[in-house]
Amino acid sequence: MPAEKRELVHPSPSVVAAANVQNLDELRRHAANDLEGFWAERAREFEWSQPWDRVLDASKAPFFKWFVGARTNIVHNCLDRHVRTARRNKLALIWEGEKGDVRTFSYHALNREVCMFANILRSMGVKKGDRVTIYMGRIPELPIAMLACAKIGAVHSVVFGGFSAEALHGRIEDSQSNVVITCDGGWMNGKIVELKKMVDEALKRSPTIEHVIVVKRTGQEVQMEAGRDYWLHELMQLPIARGQSGGNRCETEQMDAEDPLFLLYTSGTTGKPKAILHTHGGYMVGTATTLKWVFDLKEEDRWWCTADPGWITGHSYLVYGPLLLGATSFMYEGAPTYPYPNRWWSMIEKYGINVFYTAPTAIRGLMRFGEAWPNRHDLSGLRLLGSVGEPINPEAWRWYHRVIGKERCPIMDTWWQTETGMFMITPLPVMDLDPGSATLPFPGVEVDILDEHGTPVATGEEGYLVIKRPWPAMLRTIYGDPDRYVQQYWSKYPGLYFTGDSARRDENGHLWIIGRVDDVIKVSGYRLGTAEVESALVSHPAVAEAAVIGIAHEVKGQAIHAYIILRSGQTPSEELHDAVIKHVAHELGPIAKPEKLTFVTQLPKTRSGKIMRRVLKARAQGLPEGDISTLEE
Ligand code: PRX
Repeated sequence: MPAEKRELVHPSPSVVAAANVQNLDELRRHAANDLEGFWAERAREFEWSQPWDRVLDASKAPFFKWFVGARTNIVHNCLDRHVRTARRNKLALIWEGEKGDVRTFSYHALNREVCMFANILRSMGVKKGDRVTIYMGRIPELPIAMLACAKIGAVHSVVFGGFSAEALHGRIEDSQSNVVITCDGGWMNGKIVELKKMVDEALKRSPTIEHVIVVKRTGQEVQMEAGRDYWLHELMQLPIARGQSGGNRCETEQMDAEDPLFLLYTSGTTGKPKAILHTHGGYMVGTATTLKWVFDLKEEDRWWCTADPGWITGHSYLVYGPLLLGATSFMYEGAPTYPYPNRWWSMIEKYGINVFYTAPTAIRGLMRFGEAWPNRHDLSGLRLLGSVGEPINPEAWRWYHRVIGKERCPIMDTWWQTETGMFMITPLPVMDLDPGSATLPFPGVEVDILDEHGTPVATGEEGYLVIKRPWPAMLRTIYGDPDRYVQQYWSKYPGLYFTGDSARRDENGHLWIIGRVDDVIKVSGYRLGTAEVESALVSHPAVAEAAVIGIAHEVKGQAIHAYIILRSGQTPSEELHDAVIKHVAHELGPIAKPEKLTFVTQLPKTRSGKIMRRVLKARAQGLPEGDISTLEE
């Protein structure tokens, strides 16, 4: 947080005048005084086949329940209710492939695809509560597959297409999925990412998988195992896709508000990624309300969230949130710089995007190519901009605001997590902005910044960010490991949700997120655990021990610096250096590749053998090593 008095950026009067939320103070008061009443009012905007008996049940906290007794299905609210109205013929999704191919889906057409896909899943025996792993490129069939699962009550587990076969295998095993949905390949930077090949490798050791549904995208030859692997386009031709009553219809399974909707794996302190579990009811109310209020979506808007559906941002604000609001979303398959660095800006112009939501790393990456690229395009359709994933440095904020938003478009810097499901700390369009600060909690969200002993820190001081009251889109548990859920999030300060982030509050009450306090590194906004990368490193036959830290990186925010001790008999060499880096990419995925790898003969450890990454970090930055009294000799 810069020490000098900063000037706040005021929103443009036209944005304020049009904002969905005008009575923000009143809403904040309502939520503060009557949290349940506040969320109940939001929940009434959706269709429920049975109303709730209670809004919030905290009797088994931290296993909170929302909209207890209510029944619905998030897909009913995303699709079924819209196709009965004039929205039926409105575009739900506009998609552009990396090579420039375009596909569009009205709400009617999207619903039809989802119904057919859901019929196929049902015919394969997938039923309520079953887990389905989805591992795909950014193509329309990815959201269609997610919605098809949710529609029949199955629980989807989307694994980001940039993860390796090994990571995919671990997630299939942990979730005990029976079905995998994938594609032959995906286009990225003009090259084919061979997704089906990864699935084949992952499935060699995954006996639970009965069926693999494969979407044809890139067209190269792939192996199809008879009786296990099926092409989606062939299944779609079968009578089963048309459903029991024909006509491409499919009954939407009515779910309990608390029934699981999806699992999403994310990194934490240990090497094993954890499956964050979200549910139908509360997640629906939380994501739709935050999107409507923060990004101010209007009936006629075109919304573009650049996130991959393999991450929470894609789940909440590319797939579910916009459909719940009946909005038109844009989705793009490939790389932002393919074939040139104006690709994104050209599509904002071409499709008339009004609201654009991306990550600081992307802004910084595109900033490097200069203003001439965006300046070639008419970006005047933009009204609001957004940022997520890591703190946005004021320099990138200002560039985004000036060059992309032409100083007309406020930037919504949204702080949240896979676990929170929805925006937690964020401005709203009517608010003053402070470049680099996510400003204030969303109505109903109460946060604090605490020291080690649980005492709130003074203004300007750094401390642990905690959340004090439950919220509807909160994670319900870690799938299969409720103890870890309690231990990880609710035990440092009993009764408070521990975010794992450190933060400061300034004299305006604005919150400044500093970064993770645990062993999580954010590389280009992607969340990786040091332990995951370390275990990938030591699985190389030449590596005896490894330690990983995050180092500041101009574009990526943070990058991985790995330190390795070789096994006896091994000697450092350039070849080995490259081979170990390649090995990590193979084990975890290209996103986890260390930026730097240093051979060492010793690692700083406590006497009990724990690696002191803090000391490594200080050394890497040339800073004092701090308290090293526990360092072994
Ligand atoms: O450290 C915070 C950072 O990203 C973490 C959550 O990562 P993940 O679960 O992958 O979700 C990312 C997308 C919601 C947080 O603990 N983070 C996220 N948004 C911001 C942020 N840090 C600062 N400012 C943000 N706007």
